[in-house]
Amino acid sequence: MMQRANVKMIKEWIQHIDTFKIEGAGTTRLPLSKEEMECRSYIMKEMEKFGLQVNVDAIGNIMGILPGSNDELPAVWTGSHIDTVKEAGMFDGVAGVVAGLEAVRLIKEAGLTLKRNLCVNIYTSEESTRFSMGCIGSRAMAGHLMKEELGQIKDMNGISLKELLEENGFNLNEYDKVRKERRQVHAAVELHIEQSPNLEKHKKSVGIVDAICAPSNLILTLHGIQSHAGGTSMTDRSDAFMAAAEIALALEEVSKQGMSAYTTGTVGYVSVLPNAVNVIPGKVIMSIDVRDCEQVSKTYVVTEFMKRAKEICAKRKIKLKIEKKCDDIPFLCDPQIISAIVNSCKFIQDEEEVEFYMHLMSGAYHDSLFLGEFAPVGMIFVPSRDGISHSPLEWTDYEDIAKGIDVLTHTLIQLANE
Ligand code: HGY
Ligand code: MN
Ligand code: MN
Repeated sequence: MMQRANVKMIKEWIQHIDTFKIEGAGTTRLPLSKEEMECRSYIMKEMEKFGLQVNVDAIGNIMGILPGSNDELPAVWTGSHIDTVKEAGMFDGVAGVVAGLEAVRLIKEAGLTLKRNLCVNIYTSEESTRFSMGCIGSRAMAGHLMKEELGQIKDMNGISLKELLEENGFNLNEYDKVRKERRQVHAAVELHIEQSPNLEKHKKSVGIVDAICAPSNLILTLHGIQSHAGGTSMTDRSDAFMAAAEIALALEEVSKQGMSAYTTGTVGYVSVLPNAVNVIPGKVIMSIDVRDCEQVSKTYVVTEFMKRAKEICAKRKIKLKIEKKCDDIPFLCDPQIISAIVNSCKFIQDEEEVEFYMHLMSGAYHDSLFLGEFAPVGMIFVPSRDGISHSPLEWTDYEDIAKGIDVLTHTLIQLANE
């Protein structure tokens, strides 16, 4: 008889994982940082405690394997990420990794041997915070990140992904083994916090994701003329910040013209140089993040936005450099995986209980966006209080995570015994 997920265990894991972070508000655990590497080793030790075989690939993806009775068969995957944005909450990504650990614990406690191997994974650098593009580990698995590119992907301090991987002992000679071919994986199911308010609004505790929005990330560098704030008349200026401000408002305006309800445009990172009270900024670096569930709509917004940015810079005599970091494709989850998740919800639902689940879209992107290139993928969401995420105020009740894990566990068992 399968036990229900253990709230106390879930809480302890999440709270312990949250000790691996730097000082400051909320949780900051950037990918391949000292604190993230320490967190990785803690979780790998937890995996080993459950008898999982732990493998780490050349770009740092961790796979904890629970052997099935037939390890020739393509495996079933679950898991998520443990790297965070700056001043994050403690559930984004971590809830999905802990869900995988708890699912394995429940399966072992029930004395079940599954037909297929079950892998609990941690994907490298899912957040775009450090490298201005997200899903680096899962993107590499999908074959969209060549070894030669690792030296060109740099963080804001100019440190390359290649340097960081080598410094942390990952063996890039094995890089060609990172890539997964289509159907090498039977199914991949990721539990994640919703990061929007729909489940809470509809009083549901579990979300079944139908589609995942995807990002286009750009970095704009604006060069104007650094000069004296008092000695330079308003007509003689090439003010890089004022151009950036007009460009930001243009992004907001164009994003509102997006053709779907899920079009978003965000300027999350701005560096103003020399950043001094009485100096007209000569240089601005700013990030552009456009999301959508439809590629046509996203392409329209990005194209229109770049046109407007160029016009603004020409008018203001600003030199503009646009770096395209990624242009990812929105993704539909696999109907068979979705129905496996629905079956699990129905199996768990008590007779008198109101239907506790609903279908929804993911405005956030996830590693599942790339896993879907070589495996049928599904996602299970648990509620975010007030829909807040990427903030110290992010919160999900442990009981909701436990309910999501019950659904995940039943889904993984179904899929691993196919
Ligand atoms: O930005 C996102 O959608 C995800 O949290 N990386
Ligand atoms: Mn996130
Ligand atoms: Mn996430």
